[in-house]
Amino acid sequence: MERHHHPIDPSNPDPELLARAGQALRDGLLVAFPTETVYGLGARADQDAPVEAIYRAKGRPGRNPLIVHVAGLEEARALALAWSSEAEALARAFWPGPLTLVALGVPGTVSTKVTAGGPTVALRVPSHPVALGLVRAAGVPVAAPSANRYQHLSPTLAEHVHKSLGDRVQWILDGGPCALGLESSVVDTTTTPPTLLRPGALCLARLQSVVPALALHAPPAPSLEPSRSPGLEARHYAPSVPLRVLPGRDIHAFLRVNTDLTVGVVLCRERYECTHRAPVERLGAEPERYGAALYASLHRLEDLGCDLILVEEPPNEPAWATVTDRLRRASEPSRSGGAPP
Ligand code: TXA
Ligand code: MG
Repeated sequence: MERHHHPIDPSNPDPELLARAGQALRDGLLVAFPTETVYGLGARADQDAPVEAIYRAKGRPGRNPLIVHVAGLEEARALALAWSSEAEALARAFWPGPLTLVALGVPGTVSTKVTAGGPTVALRVPSHPVALGLVRAAGVPVAAPSANRYQHLSPTLAEHVHKSLGDRVQWILDGGPCALGLESSVVDTTTTPPTLLRPGALCLARLQSVVPALALHAPPAPSLEPSRSPGLEARHYAPSVPLRVLPGRDIHAFLRVNTDLTVGVVLCRERYECTHRAPVERLGAEPERYGAALYASLHRLEDLGCDLILVEEPPNEPAWATVTDRLRRASEPSRSGGAPP
């Protein structure tokens, strides 16, 4: 494996290796690391140059703000100018874990490149022992978007990071697969009530069990105001191959007619039998397990050189909301130049 690839025990990471990776972050290098959701591309958040390096490595427009990872609630509060009682309740319930809280930032604490010049900062305390250990070892807030090129599939294995970013990243901590496999839920705590900006690994029902009034964010009409959260832009999290979501019977019908195409198929309901010569990923009808496996299966089908990926429509139920959201974004046609409005 490459020089910058460092295997690390996900449940009991070597403190010496974490210390070296933390030093690399302090030195301004990029370090990719596993979290409980997806792999992150980390850089110290309090300096402009390392943060600019993240945007360059990803090919991500500078107007999309980044999530800042910190070691605990106290460290998060130190970066927030205002911290509502709802923010406190959500943090206490779900940190460390797959929840990102957006709050007003304290000017001067993180680079303005992290917040894309805006007044708010997105904060998260990750629960993965490698991620948490790394942030502690770094001793500085760590900006980390998902470790993939802009608008591409998020990585849930270190191999995916290599595939997407290659030598653009100086360190890759390989802690194996990410347990949850879908990005954190992003909640804006500057609104009353707080709003869910991005559905994620933590489902709405669990968030509402702590803050019952928590509402879904209604996206602004395009062009009226700058994007409130780039994760809400239509195309995101997409494989490089066209992807369509269809009822199972329509997938059968499509495969019967289009025998000359290599079509990758992603199924959820096991009763459905696919008899065609097509690479099939069976992810099952349990939403959390399906979510954990989704990106890795799309990466595999992409690597097989499929012309098209057909995904069986998942059940129309609240527990499937995050999966449905990611599939909708993955099936958006890409725009030339890649930059959404
Ligand atoms: O699970 C995750 O959240 C992963 C891991 C690595 O922690 N990170 C991740 O980062 O998905 P990224 O940069 O790919 O997604 C950042 C999300 C976007 O939806 C972005 O709009 C939102 O967080 N965000 C960041 N800063 C924000 C801010 N100040 N206001 C509103 N949304 C913000
Ligand atoms: Mg991302």
